[in-house]
Amino acid sequence: MQFPDYRPRRLRKNENFRRMIRETKLSADNLIYPLFVVPGTKVKNPIAFMPGNFQMSVDYIVPEAARMKTLGIPAILLFGIPEKKDEIASGALAKDGIIQRAVREIKNKVPDILVITDVCLCEYTSHGHCGMIEKGEVANDLTLAVLAEQAVSHARAGADMVAPSAMMDGQVGAIREGLDEAGFDAVPIMAYSAKYASCFYGPFREAAESAPSFGDRRAYQMDPANSDEAMREIALDVQEGTDIIMVKPALPYLDVIRRAKEEFDLPLAAYNVSGEFAMVKAAAQMGWIDGERAMLESLTAIRRAGAEMIITYFAPEAAQILRK
Ligand code: PBG
Repeated sequence: MQFPDYRPRRLRKNENFRRMIRETKLSADNLIYPLFVVPGTKVKNPIAFMPGNFQMSVDYIVPEAARMKTLGIPAILLFGIPEKKDEIASGALAKDGIIQRAVREIKNKVPDILVITDVCLCEYTSHGHCGMIEKGEVANDLTLAVLAEQAVSHARAGADMVAPSAMMDGQVGAIREGLDEAGFDAVPIMAYSAKYASCFYGPFREAAESAPSFGDRRAYQMDPANSDEAMREIALDVQEGTDIIMVKPALPYLDVIRRAKEEFDLPLAAYNVSGEFAMVKAAAQMGWIDGERAMLESLTAIRRAGAEMIITYFAPEAAQILRK
């Protein structure tokens, strides 16, 4: 194709042409909304750096789930902040734990929205690490049994899908086995397969009150410089039986999303994380960019890179616009 025979501008002339040849479609179907559940009643704490997002008690989470359903969003992803944190993350496994209660209530009152739960210990441990500590280090194999138990407990409460994010080796296999043994062979896993040790999680750690009290997460989350390794991580999760693979964060890792799309034949999710959200919001508040357009362009770019699902704090705002 060569100019002047091919003139790409012919098909850009007006919105009808542009609509007709548009390759990537963004809809509410693609969106998953993260929610933070806290103890108590009538609690709605604004989250610093994440305007429009709140920590909410179960009584407020239920109507929020109903609102997402009305907006056409198919799924929510729950993070829980327990009453008390301890060394061994007991709050993660309690039958009446924060997530277990939230899931039961939501499934009871808003049955027709998918409830996905975060399976990780960092929200529940006093030290803020994603696994059990032994000799000052996050102990991989010791953590696996706890993650499996946590996943089973979420499934028992009625979770539609579990999303392990601890980045322990073998976590998907351990959770799959745990679920199957407990009779939950029909509950799928959405694995945070390529999860990077990213500074873009900063605002989330405020929201989940889960910043590590010593060290950082670089001994279990991935080095941002690597993408071949991401393919090995994903391959492991596929072997261990994950149903959905995920790349996280999204925007700085669009190349990894694209590679995952090309190399693996499984549904692909991307997590447009708290820091990505905060950057757009902050710049928009300053009047430096058009926040709405930046949001839609970002989400479209993540879809174009290859993700079918986008976990994003923009979900309700975007869904509202996309409905028009
Ligand atoms: C860990 C977890 C994190 C996020 C989701 N799950 C934080 C971390 O690894 O420190 C971050 C999500 C975001 O930044 O929006 N359970």
